Amino acid sequence: MSNYEQEINRRRTFAIISHPDAGKTTLTEKFLLYGGAINLAGSVKGKATARHAVSDWMEIEKERGISVTSSVLQFEYDGFCINILDTPGHQDFSEDTYRTLMAADSAVMVIDASKGVEAQTRKLFKVCVMRKIPIFTFINKMDREANDTFELLDEIEKELGIATCPINWPIGCGKRFKGVYDRDRQCVLTYSDTEKGTKEGEITEIPASEQDKLIGVIGQEAADTLKDEIELLDGASAEFDLDLVRSGDLTPVFFGSALTNFGVEFFLQHFLKMTTTPLPRKADTGLIVPDEHDFSAFVFKIQANMNRAHRDRIAFMRICSGKYEASMEVKHVQGGKVMRLSQPQQIMASERKILDEAYAGDIIGVFDPGIFSIGDTLCMPKEQFCYEGIPTFAPEHFARVRQIDTMKRKQFVKGITQIAQEGAIQIFQEFNTGMEEIIVGVVGVLQFDVLKYRLENEYNVEIRLENLPYEHIRWIENKEIDLNKLVGTSDMKKIKDLKGNPLLLFVNAWSVGMTLERNEGLKLSEFGRD
Ligand code: G4P
Repeated sequence: MSNYEQEINRRRTFAIISHPDAGKTTLTEKFLLYGGAINLAGSVKGKATARHAVSDWMEIEKERGISVTSSVLQFEYDGFCINILDTPGHQDFSEDTYRTLMAADSAVMVIDASKGVEAQTRKLFKVCVMRKIPIFTFINKMDREANDTFELLDEIEKELGIATCPINWPIGCGKRFKGVYDRDRQCVLTYSDTEKGTKEGEITEIPASEQDKLIGVIGQEAADTLKDEIELLDGASAEFDLDLVRSGDLTPVFFGSALTNFGVEFFLQHFLKMTTTPLPRKADTGLIVPDEHDFSAFVFKIQANMNRAHRDRIAFMRICSGKYEASMEVKHVQGGKVMRLSQPQQIMASERKILDEAYAGDIIGVFDPGIFSIGDTLCMPKEQFCYEGIPTFAPEHFARVRQIDTMKRKQFVKGITQIAQEGAIQIFQEFNTGMEEIIVGVVGVLQFDVLKYRLENEYNVEIRLENLPYEHIRWIENKEIDLNKLVGTSDMKKIKDLKGNPLLLFVNAWSVGMTLERNEGLKLSEFGRD
């Protein structure tokens, strides 16, 4: 294998998804203890400082004390080069969170053992399922009182519709947490609390066959319960099957405690063995294989105002194949131009590093003078192909935008169109009118504040937002449908997107069903495609 292939094959790129407070930040911090962190974005530096480090470029983030954008970090562990894509942990997440998943090859789902599957996990999970992204589950906070282990697994299977395969099994929880049982090696790893240590603490390994020794350490009751549970588990749970994991149909489950640093390295080691090298990606010319093809990448996120002093815009791209080298010429397919990527940077937020080289699996941030759009492809000048578009996710909150000073129409249209181009918001129009009535749709309500703030600060335009009651949006898949003849419900609203595609807004799911029933052959979709 050439050096070039080796570099690509040692890359692992994944996103961490969780509901806020499940322990994603803590887990990430612990991962970094095991590898020499090359670059870390603010969000993993410890919470108090993190918030400032990540958020400096956007006042609104400081005001709300949250991070609006996702960050990326890279570290080395055991010969692997690991890229973690962080997704914002706040409820007010945006479409960026979804798009980040498009750049990942697998996802780690962190679940709080006392809470089970929570709202945000469910949403992000839907995207993973849609893309068939392999999911690895880390059930965290076993050092606290936890829900019944079998019930937790049941919940994942029922709520998320994916089979589970525990790789280890917890022995008790909270004050009675004694450690985990490694199913593969059939031994018990005893719990030790090493919150303050930098490495996993002294863990004693006891083979399950040495019952007397085991009872001596974890006690008769815990040993009996473990024996019963493992018997039950061996009989009932899905068998481990790497192909099913890789196709996103089976999730390996690990138990641990990120805070006390127990089970984290176990997870990391197993996860790295099970997850994939950078995956081939679909383009309009066929599959592009990472180590068989020259440089190519796609833009999955555009971030404006990374640095207020420079009013810059950064396009984040995932390298899908080949190697990027400093000042190399590439083709921006959608723009039809050959260009040099200026100053590619490896991380975002306050720390930036100019890169000399990067490989398939890596994420780079490139200065964007306003030419890139989400989903754009970059490849070698002699080539011509486009990666499959990134789906447009259904906004769940809608508002009508009113301009306070109607004289500033031009700035307003320019501003709102640019912000929409970055993908922070989606804009729509009434079905039968032009730009005079604009409806904004967002995935997280915080984006409304971001829009208002940015229009005022960057375009000097004041707006008023009037919330609309709609919660469901549907793209019409069959283009032959005549929207004027469509029989909807009384609360249904017909709108169109910037490209003129017709869409429908509904107040509730019942109306969606009713409209489908009343219009034979109508096909509605929750995701739009470019
Ligand atoms: P998030 O990024 O998913 O939002 O979660 P984060 O890691 O910030 O963790 C949320 C809270 O849960 C933190 O406490 C953290 O210390 C705690 N936590 C994380 N993992 C574990 C665990 O394994 N066991 C226990 N007992 N607690 C855990 P906090 O008090 O809200 O924040 P902080 O003040 O400690 O930073």
